[in-house]
Amino acid sequence: MSKVNSIDQASGNGSGDAIRPVKWEDGAVVLIDQRLLPLQEVHVRCHTWQEVAACIQDMTVRGAPALGVTAALGMVLAARRALSESAGDRGRFRAALQDATKGLFATRPTAYNLPWALREMELVWKVDALDLGEIVTAMEKRALAILEQDLAACRAIGEYGAELIKDKRPVILTHCNAGALATAGYGTALGVIRSVHRRNPRLHVFVDETRPLLQGARLTAWELMREGISCELITDNMAGWFMRQGEITHVVVGADRITASGDFANKIGTYSLSVLAREHGLPFFVAAPFSTVDLSLVSGDSIPIEERDESEVTGFGGVRWAPLGVRVRNPAFDVTPAAHVTAIITERGVATPPFERSLAALNK
Ligand code: MRU
Repeated sequence: MSKVNSIDQASGNGSGDAIRPVKWEDGAVVLIDQRLLPLQEVHVRCHTWQEVAACIQDMTVRGAPALGVTAALGMVLAARRALSESAGDRGRFRAALQDATKGLFATRPTAYNLPWALREMELVWKVDALDLGEIVTAMEKRALAILEQDLAACRAIGEYGAELIKDKRPVILTHCNAGALATAGYGTALGVIRSVHRRNPRLHVFVDETRPLLQGARLTAWELMREGISCELITDNMAGWFMRQGEITHVVVGADRITASGDFANKIGTYSLSVLAREHGLPFFVAAPFSTVDLSLVSGDSIPIEERDESEVTGFGGVRWAPLGVRVRNPAFDVTPAAHVTAIITERGVATPPFERSLAALNK
């Protein structure tokens, strides 16, 4: 794994397209190290699937759709290595890819895009009719298609979302980072925000800081500011107050996994926001590509919730503020019931309650 200090200098063109957190370059997976943003802009080059898995686990790369794209490219690295080490033996080649699939699958449990992408890749590497070299070529093609499809999906989500938010002066609250950094580019919730802003520059955005890892303060604020989208950063516990003051018109968030019923998992704190939005009569929109929709799960109760290290709660950036020995809870995600959701904005269209029916219809 190697690191290069710099970020695409051509970025900041207002479209969000220039922020590409995951790239395929000269046989390597290139990631923006999101743990260091916005203070440092460093690119990490991964040459093995194990390096990719480590980057997913330590959150160098994060955000559900970006995890799917990264895992797919990680499988291409695994296939290239397996091709050179299996001496044409299909059994050995497949065993190596099975190991890589398991290793990448085990990195983060909540985002559905990750197993979705691994399954898409499996459909390619299990084809008997292709020789091993052809399989590697086909896998690279499929992984790059997943990346491009996600980019296109985010743009479509943005346009569908903008149709729903036509106030004279919309004020959107968003949580975590569901932006270009969390996808192949452009973003889901931030895709909606970008598209609303293109139509109506009076848009204002409240950015939840998003404890414990501060994806809002570090990443969302960075994305919005480089594009000149008016925004203010607030701590998570201020959201209710600004709603009560009438300062917020909509809540738009991303999702890590959406079930057939419309219950969905997203960054911890999303559920509380949904309760607040309901109390204040505000529209609560979820923006996500269909690769986040897990129709095999009926209820949000079945979504696996990642628990992360207690050090994320006891301090940040190497500074500890909690007393030594304190007991800590750190679920990285929570589940919001469908009853709190006004609409789910996907690239296939907008699903409204009852979601069992509307999501199933979009799946056809
Ligand atoms: O732990 P993270 O930073 O990977 O969590 C990300 C989120 O919760 C996002 O809101 C979600 O993945 C949607 S990203 C388009």
